[in-house]
Amino acid sequence: MRMRKNTMLDLLRILRTACSSGVLVCLLVAVLNVGSARAAAPGQELFEMNCAVCHGKDGVSILPNAPHFAKGDRLEKTDDLLFASIADGLNVMPPWKNVLSEEQISEILVYVRTLAK
Ligand code: HEC
Repeated sequence: MRMRKNTMLDLLRILRTACSSGVLVCLLVAVLNVGSARAAAPGQELFEMNCAVCHGKDGVSILPNAPHFAKGDRLEKTDDLLFASIADGLNVMPPWKNVLSEEQISEILVYVRTLAK
């Protein structure tokens, strides 16, 4: 009986040491960071599914005439202009308004602006 009590106390002591040395805090912060990083780019998945075939996964375009978003191509244009180009299409680029909702296009646009380095 006394043995078990001591083991429990040892465990508590180890836990308390781990807490005060910040191990648990680090773990918690790491978990929270993963969550917020994922939430930061809702347009990323949509971009990779629909746009990356031409514009490239990281904005380094694959299609010769497609703007390189990684270099900031076309990103000097306003959101309204870019939104219209995506929705209605532009020359070789097909229109997306029947494939994506306005909300989805807006989310992708936010993501596209993060590709410029
Ligand atoms: C079939 C290849 C292709 C796909 C798929 C494609 N694009 Fe494009 N995109 C182009 C080309 C080519 C241009 C350049 C058009 C031009 O200026 O003649 C372009 C231009 C653009 C521009 C600049 C428009 C402007 O006003 O200058 C944006 C923004 C853009 N694309 C976003 C997207 C997004 C977002 C998607 C996915 C929903 C997408 N593109 C999918 C080929 C594509």
